[in-house]
Amino acid sequence: MRLVILGPPGAGKGTQASAIVKKYNIPHISTGDIFRANIKAGTELGKKAKTYMDKGLLVPDELVVSIVKDRLTEEDCKDGFLLDGFPRTVNQAEALDKELNEMGLKLDRVINIDVEKDILIERAIGRRICRNCGATYHIKFNPPQREGVCDNCKGELFQRDDDKVETVEKRIEVYIEETKPLIDYYMKKGLLLNIDGSKSIDAIFEEIVNHLEK
Ligand code: AP5
Ligand code: MG
Ligand code: ZN
Repeated sequence: MRLVILGPPGAGKGTQASAIVKKYNIPHISTGDIFRANIKAGTELGKKAKTYMDKGLLVPDELVVSIVKDRLTEEDCKDGFLLDGFPRTVNQAEALDKELNEMGLKLDRVINIDVEKDILIERAIGRRICRNCGATYHIKFNPPQREGVCDNCKGELFQRDDDKVETVEKRIEVYIEETKPLIDYYMKKGLLLNIDGSKSIDAIFEEIVNHLEK
């Protein structure tokens, strides 16, 4: 299964993606996670990406597209993948189409998680992530058993640098301007699966799986 998960910042893309890739045993390719791993490792790419991410802006297409192209040619992608947070501009979507076309492949579905702005801000600012295994929690909606400690690995939970209110608002603006047009782009291709993201994590997952298996 070759999937894309779309949606505004804090919509729940990463949360649903983790459950989907586990169920279908495909790799989870999150460009945001790739950049954060590079920032942590102190690479040149990480340094460049951080200057944009901290401001809530998109990293330039030329930096993102080549990373995804390389990733898609790796062995574990041969039976499918889930792209989370990519594409994010029409230009990136066209580059992805071109790359898949050259590989003789096509996307199966594009899952669009739709959530209104107030909920997005609440979800993003309450998010906490495990420094060790990357598991995502929410202080109110999906709290760990012990505050500040990961249930899976006992790692320390932290807040993303770009999860401050002002930066989240900027990210939402950038989403509306640059990423939202992709809804139309994929609708025209007949690939779009619209999901109401205001429901519970489990209810959304169930709805996605039902659609994918239709
Ligand atoms: P990225 O990491 O992709 O961030 P994003 O798109 O802003 O999305 P988030 O990861 O913030 O939200 P999410 O939808 O994954 O929500 P989550 O599941 O965590 O990108 C970060 C930055 O990197 C960008 O700003 C940009 O600078 C750069 N970048 C990345 N890709 C790029 C690209 N292709 N091109 C250019 N630049 C790029 O959930 C959020 C919270 O809500 C969690 O706490 C979760 O527990 C909770 N939650 C989830 N679902 C529910 C629910 N149903 N009910 C209640 N709570 C819920
Ligand atoms: Mg995410
Ligand atoms: Zn952990």
